[in-house]
Amino acid sequence: MSAAGAAPAPGGVAVRLEGVAKTYETREGDSVPALEPTDLGIEPGQFVAIVGPSGCGKSTTLALIAGLLAPSAGRIVLDGEVVRRPHPRIGVVFQTDLLLYWRTVIDNILLPIEVKLGNPRDYARRAEQLLEQVGLQGFGGKYPGELSGGMRQRVAICRALIQEPGLLLMDEPFGALDALTREQMIVDLQAMWLSVRNTVLFITHSIDEAVFLSDRVLVMSPRPGRIDLDLAVELPRPRRWAVHTEPRFIDYTARIRRIFEAKGILTER
Ligand SMILES: Nc1ncnc2c1ncn2[C@@H]1O[C@H](COP(=O)(O)OP(=O)(O)OP(=O)(O)O)[C@@H](O)[C@H]1O
Ligand SMILES: [Mg+2]
Repeated sequence: MSAAGAAPAPGGVAVRLEGVAKTYETREGDSVPALEPTDLGIEPGQFVAIVGPSGCGKSTTLALIAGLLAPSAGRIVLDGEVVRRPHPRIGVVFQTDLLLYWRTVIDNILLPIEVKLGNPRDYARRAEQLLEQVGLQGFGGKYPGELSGGMRQRVAICRALIQEPGLLLMDEPFGALDALTREQMIVDLQAMWLSVRNTVLFITHSIDEAVFLSDRVLVMSPRPGRIDLDLAVELPRPRRWAVHTEPRFIDYTARIRRIFEAKGILTER
């Protein structure tokens, strides 16, 4: 996913959450508090990860920032503008690839352009470049059903990148991949981000993945979700895979692990 041949970077979007909270109302009439009032600022071009246990409100936070869900309180401001609908400069990668099985790989990648700009053919060359960058050259004419899970997720990432998003929201994008593909995707994602420096919010269950990729790791506590730790990761870039064995890396992961241990989420058996 190196960005050789990519168009000039448009710069990252600034993200601000002001007292943002979310309570779901269920069909049975119950209230489910998913996110406590949260203040958060993300600088343009920052790579931020959110880690936390299942059900702590990570996807909710992402959907709120994406404008796919309305907050129960507070407001979200992107580049100085209050979010009321999906922002045009956002790209989203969900937990599952959500490709349309009746469209070819290329037509899946071009879907956001078709919907937002109406001129997908002008972007066909760019779509081919992206496919090449994720190691899928020649697969444009295939259908999602002809690809493996890892290949489909790479197509979903191309679809998010086609519009050169100033803010890339990724919800456990590598969760369903085998360990080797996952390692390659992590390394490729860092290379892509280093070349475009857009703002990235990356959700994961993996503490190692969060520390390896991020400038900052937000650790969330169980429901109702709250940010318990805001940890700056000051490891030089580009980070090589061997950084995993360095004392500083191990110290960052241990600090995050301690939060989960204190909450009883991780215990020694
Ligand atoms: N539409 C909904 N209606 C009611 N409750 C919901 C709804 N969506 C999510 N929730 C609840 O809100 C909480 C947060 O959900 P969310 O999907 O944000 O968690 P998550 O941190 O992304 O979890 P995971 O790691 O399993 O993906 C959960 O307890 C969930 O049950
Ligand atoms: Mg989730």
